[in-house]
Amino acid sequence: MLKTIEYVDGVVRMIDQTKLPLESVFVDCRTIEEVGSAIKTMVIRGAPAIGVAAAMGVSLGAAAIEAETFDDFFSQLEAQCAELGQSRPTAVNLAWGIERMTRVAQENKSLPLAELKTLLRDESIKICAEDIEINKAMGRHGQALIEKGQTVLTHCNAGALATAGYGTALGVIRAAMEAGKNIKVMANETRPFLQGARLTVWELKEDNIPVTLITDNMSGFFMKKKAIDCVVVGADRIAANGDVANKIGTYMVATMAEKHKIPFYVAAPISTLDMSLSSGDLIPIEERSSEEVTSVQNQRIAPEGTNAAHPAFDVTPNDMITAIITEKGVARPPFAESLKRLAEQK
Ligand code: MRU
Repeated sequence: MLKTIEYVDGVVRMIDQTKLPLESVFVDCRTIEEVGSAIKTMVIRGAPAIGVAAAMGVSLGAAAIEAETFDDFFSQLEAQCAELGQSRPTAVNLAWGIERMTRVAQENKSLPLAELKTLLRDESIKICAEDIEINKAMGRHGQALIEKGQTVLTHCNAGALATAGYGTALGVIRAAMEAGKNIKVMANETRPFLQGARLTVWELKEDNIPVTLITDNMSGFFMKKKAIDCVVVGADRIAANGDVANKIGTYMVATMAEKHKIPFYVAAPISTLDMSLSSGDLIPIEERSSEEVTSVQNQRIAPEGTNAAHPAFDVTPNDMITAIITEKGVARPPFAESLKRLAEQK
């Protein structure tokens, strides 16, 4: 499996997810601004991967600062972080990654600046490695919810490519396979950006996990035929009451799952919880270019001048969610209590 993101010789290297699966090419970021641009243009995407990229971006920004004192260094770093924090609004992992890095800087303000910069680089590498361990723990908890031979529907890409490796929703699927459960996957193509068709199918095929691609409007058909046993998706931000923001179309899948009494699971690390928001209504929803709707892979499919809308995420209300799988365990309703307990658990 190719690495989603890594630090190589002072450069942050990412696989370009706008080019997959047709080409496997890498983008090298040398500055915090280049990392911000890679996040904005979806070279790297998926909430946990955005968090790791943000942390590595902050370390690149820190390395380039010329300052004599910590206060001067930190005010320059904060200005760069404010800019980076604007790159995408919905995934809370972006703010989480930046916040963790600036906290480490402040906690080590007495170090000589050269040492502090090295420490920040090492911290971002640690965040990357931790993310894989977190996903594996999530996989161990989540696979217990899946039975032998089941077919799991997933939406978007919550896989190795959306994280530092292994994945959240696809991590649960990988762990179920590793536990010998011989499951099958159905992947929604996930218009307009096609993360399901391009990325989920690509990485599951690489791992020889049986996958069937369907278009987004087919999942109801297959649920009605009892061809889907459960749904597992990732999340970009989870409010304190358990409302989940995830890729546009997730709410529609949850609605169909509820109608057909199919369990609907969300797999996400604790870093995706935003306990400061009481409900999903407060989660900012990114509006992306309407050109992503009027064209497919830069090929226009709608008449010129078509008015199109493109909210990139939607919010699934907590009462439609069977369980939320985290690295610390599985939260069940009422989520306001179970998530708080997990968030506070050491
Ligand atoms: O717009 P994207 O591709 O960044 O959206 C990604 C998703 O919605 C994922 O499901 C979510 O980030 C979870 S990734 C483990």
